[in-house]
Amino acid sequence: MEEEIKRQNEYIDKCREWLSYKEKEKGRKLTACVNTFGCQMNARDSEKLIGILEKIGYVITESENADFVIFNTCTVRENANLKVYGHLGHLSNVKKKNPDMIVGLCGCMMQEPTVVEKIKKSYRFVDIIFGTHNIFKFAEIFYNRIENDRMTIDIWEGTEQIVEDLPVKRQFPFKSGVNIMFGCNNFCTYCIVPYVRGRERSRKPEDIINEIKRLVADGVVEVMLLGQNVNSYGKNLPNPMTFAELLTEVEKIEGLERIRFMTSHPKDLSDELIEVMKNSKKICKQLHLPLQAGSSRILKIMNRHYDKEKYLELVDKIREAVPDISLSTDIMVGFPGETEEDFLETLDVVDKVRFDCAYTFIYSKRTGTPAAAMEDQVPEDVVKDRFNRLLEHVNKIVNENNGKDIGKVMEVLVEEKNPQLDGYVTGRLSNSTVVHMVGDMSLIGKIVNVRLDESKGFYYMGTIIE
Ligand code: 5AD
Ligand code: SF4
Repeated sequence: MEEEIKRQNEYIDKCREWLSYKEKEKGRKLTACVNTFGCQMNARDSEKLIGILEKIGYVITESENADFVIFNTCTVRENANLKVYGHLGHLSNVKKKNPDMIVGLCGCMMQEPTVVEKIKKSYRFVDIIFGTHNIFKFAEIFYNRIENDRMTIDIWEGTEQIVEDLPVKRQFPFKSGVNIMFGCNNFCTYCIVPYVRGRERSRKPEDIINEIKRLVADGVVEVMLLGQNVNSYGKNLPNPMTFAELLTEVEKIEGLERIRFMTSHPKDLSDELIEVMKNSKKICKQLHLPLQAGSSRILKIMNRHYDKEKYLELVDKIREAVPDISLSTDIMVGFPGETEEDFLETLDVVDKVRFDCAYTFIYSKRTGTPAAAMEDQVPEDVVKDRFNRLLEHVNKIVNENNGKDIGKVMEVLVEEKNPQLDGYVTGRLSNSTVVHMVGDMSLIGKIVNVRLDESKGFYYMGTIIE
């Protein structure tokens, strides 16, 4: 592995040489833009890409009129794919005016052979394509493109390799995502993730702990431990370890103030984890626990390995242990065969749990998944109607929950200068709710006590208490 890092650093150096030659030719610095779609895992991967691009010497910009544009794609729902094709259509015109522009595609969508075929055929101007397993090879793939001057494609079907210690550019100086595992073994029948992200691989605990210690030394106070199913962390390590045990170790890191994690699968959320959450001073009062559906019949066909009762019991157990926890979830409507009664079961769970936040989705057929081949796909108008009813239900409950902490003094991690209100900063409570308050840039990255004065729906206006 050290060999590999050395190799990649050599490619970064070669790309840097090429870039400085280009800078002279153009008489200016060159810019790069990484546009990220999808989840926190992709966001973290993009930080790795930006780290490498900066090391090469690019100036990072948010504009797609850059000299190098990369799309880090998502394919979890068809909409995500359509968005990428939309952007590519636009870029084809931009590139006609600036033929030196380099366009790269990576991420989950590229792990689907039909997508790559389509790009090869209809989007010939794309320069490099790589997947989710070989992001660490980005500089090498880029250099191959420079040398050969033609579309360079490098996609791996899977990997056992976890390459550590390449450059990373964090989006925030004081908080960071930390991958603890990659891939997923669950094969929920609607989901394409196991096909594009591969089998579950856990990073070694010592590598995770060392990374967090380095981050803390560099000013990070909050980490988000990332994995498709963090609750099954460590099962396949040479010395197996549970997620709860990992959290206990992370908690011991001095200087680290807040720990978040996602995503938790209800089937694997152990009593041990609940106990650790209950006793922790650092684990945030927030849990994302995807429900997907409320009907036990549908959950079974989804291959979720829990039923309605088990989910509700789990929620009770968590709330009993950590009463002020904020619960968020993912819910899907229109899974094949979903009847009106099934849907009403979903609404019933929403009513019973009273989630603080729910991400709602319309089922999207993903080619290659078992659900795509199921008969009984639900007609579009029925799905739309259910989706609207679900949204109404969720919004009503979320609105009723809003403002429940008004008058309390709570800890806020200040994250940024408020982009709209002059003289204000914005931060988050442990449960992730946004708070705006008067303050200056010197507070960014600090945890302050704030009185919550006023609720404005999903955020508070507060005052810092000395
Ligand atoms: N259609 C709709 N939503 C999906 N999700 C995953 N696969 C699909 C699909 N085929 C949702 C799930 C998951 C979230 C990340 O995306 O709710 O929890
Ligand atoms: Fe997809 Fe299920 Fe794995 Fe989540 S747990 S990534 S929904 S297969």
